[in-house]
Amino acid sequence: MKPEFWRMPAPDSAALAQLAQKTAVLAERLQAVAERFPNAVFASSLAAEDAIITDQIAALKLPLRVITLNTGKLNPETEALIGETRRRYPELAFDVYEPLAEDAAEFEREYGAAAMYESVELRKRCCHIRKIEPLNRALADASAWLTGQRRSQSVTRSELNLEETDGARGIAKFNPIFDWEDDDVWAYVQTHRVPMNALYQQGYPSIGCEPCTRPVKVGEDIRAGRWWWEQKDSKECGLHK
Ligand code: ADX
Ligand code: SF4
Repeated sequence: MKPEFWRMPAPDSAALAQLAQKTAVLAERLQAVAERFPNAVFASSLAAEDAIITDQIAALKLPLRVITLNTGKLNPETEALIGETRRRYPELAFDVYEPLAEDAAEFEREYGAAAMYESVELRKRCCHIRKIEPLNRALADASAWLTGQRRSQSVTRSELNLEETDGARGIAKFNPIFDWEDDDVWAYVQTHRVPMNALYQQGYPSIGCEPCTRPVKVGEDIRAGRWWWEQKDSKECGLHK
């Protein structure tokens, strides 16, 4: 019987064949960023993409700091990766940023725990309190930052480049795996056995906060489970304007 929900594919042979070369290019990109901006910060959501970049930063012993935003709304499976990442990479500079407790509590008192489903505006306000403000704090002293975004993830990311300018923060921004395909990601994480979210075994190809992420069916877009009640073109949390 055909599976109903998405499953992580076994490594694809074409992706495996080019993995070493793609990884070498990624290593060069990260080294170049670290040379130009030794105080750059990598924002990791602990997703597969981000686990690849973290794995390379650790392997190359780069001075780049890795941070994750614990929104307070993560699945336990995602939270568990914080400890797992620390155990796997004890030398890594890895910090967790959280929302300001009072702001998060006040928003919830005023609009309730289901506010994100009511309007795009309220959803974005929740993302602002739980992700953007903590990210701004994490980047306060950085002259560049890095993300795990890829072009093929979504229509909103099809024009991504390796290097961009984060106009709002006035710093450089790098997407070192902007040109990786889904199969490249699955090939890397399975070959290198990086810490992986257990939700990848439960139909989730893309993972955000618990209330705003659900499993996807076979054949659906890999981000179909993110903010699934919204239109495709609004499905960004505002971290990447
Ligand atoms: S989102 O905008 O839809 O939430 P997505 O989950 O695809 O983003 O992640 C894209 C990139 O944004 C990640 O590779 C990472 O760089 C950054 N990011 C997203 N969520 C977080 C988080 N919780 N902590 C740190 N970085 C994050
Ligand atoms: Fe809030 Fe959902 Fe945004 Fe997480 S993804 S910060 S729960 S609206």
